[in-house]
Amino acid sequence: MSAPVQPVQSRAENLVRRFAEVYGETPDGVWRAPGRVNLIGEHTDYNNGFVLPFAIDRSALVAMRLRRPGETGEPDVVRLASTYAPDGEELSRARFHTGGLEPGGVGGWAAYPAGVVFALVRRAGVVVPGFDLLLDSTVPVGAGLSSSHAVEVAVIVALNELLELGMDRPRMARLTQYAENEFVGAPTGIMDQSASLMGREGSALFLDCRSLDSETVPLPLARHGLEVLVIDTRVVHSHADGGYSARRSSCERGAAALGAASLREVPAGTSLDRLDAETRRRVRHVLGENERVLQVVGHLRAGDVAGIGNLLTASHASLRDDFEVSCPELDLAVDAALAAGALGARMTGGGFGGSAIALIRREDEERVRAAVRGAFAERGFREPALFTVLPADGAGRIRVTWH
Ligand code: GLA
Repeated sequence: MSAPVQPVQSRAENLVRRFAEVYGETPDGVWRAPGRVNLIGEHTDYNNGFVLPFAIDRSALVAMRLRRPGETGEPDVVRLASTYAPDGEELSRARFHTGGLEPGGVGGWAAYPAGVVFALVRRAGVVVPGFDLLLDSTVPVGAGLSSSHAVEVAVIVALNELLELGMDRPRMARLTQYAENEFVGAPTGIMDQSASLMGREGSALFLDCRSLDSETVPLPLARHGLEVLVIDTRVVHSHADGGYSARRSSCERGAAALGAASLREVPAGTSLDRLDAETRRRVRHVLGENERVLQVVGHLRAGDVAGIGNLLTASHASLRDDFEVSCPELDLAVDAALAAGALGARMTGGGFGGSAIALIRREDEERVRAAVRGAFAERGFREPALFTVLPADGAGRIRVTWH
């Protein structure tokens, strides 16, 4: 269903060529930022909890060139183009000015680069000159794999380097979160950008969202004959919509009712009896999910990759029944994968659509794919997109030589 993914190096070389055609200049460089899959730890990040995502081998690439002082044209104009364009068009183009950005002032995909500029200006006091940008991404849009964060992260690592800002990765994570929350208007946590910034090939990122302390935990899938299959239900989710922020408020209410600053500060064994039934379910999910993250980390540190399967499946059940952020397509993806032999499966990301992941043995891949496709067809659901992902390195510059 999905086309084979072109190697990053040749994508970067094409992008440089394309950039010269579009803007008549060579870029200052090309930067890559991956999408992410969350292995476990869902709806825990904004509760100061634990997450265990990994950066994936699908990424956003940006070629960028800063406007030079004295160049003709407006010094603070940003011109943008993306190869992800509406049908029949070659590029999707946009522009904005780095001065005077206000939330809501830039729409569509350009809101992500604009949000990063907004965060740098407002939050970090950086003077951002105009620039030209060309974007190409292999992170599927709307699949819950953080395609928007990949764009934001690619832009911030590029600007950090070109403007010599010297920011470390946690700082860039906080700034892109600010961009999402304050400019794009999505009340999301810090997991996605952290995975994109701090991921490591062959590993998952164990992140404490309270301190932003992180540790890479080995996830040697191939050595164990395992794969992570993504099942993109193609049900489009949006975190600017109400469900996500309603869950967030519910957690905040729960923490307050328990006398804690956040759900992370709720001591183990605290009775949840004083909470109303709905809040109790939400809180129970978050407390249980933090525990499951720690257990998965324990298995991985002990080299027991296959042993995490049941914990993944338990996470899904909790998200479905207690946190209530799943949907029939995600539940079907999980059930069909498990029935066809997956070791574990769960929705990944915010929910209400997007993707599920299944941990499978390599030799079961075709069977699981066929089972999931068959189950979707039988229920009359849209055909899902299926592909495997590998844990990849976090964002960085790609060395491209050109003449
Ligand atoms: C989305 C948000 C993240 C996180 C997840 C749920 O992906 O962007 O910050 O809250 O949902 O775990």
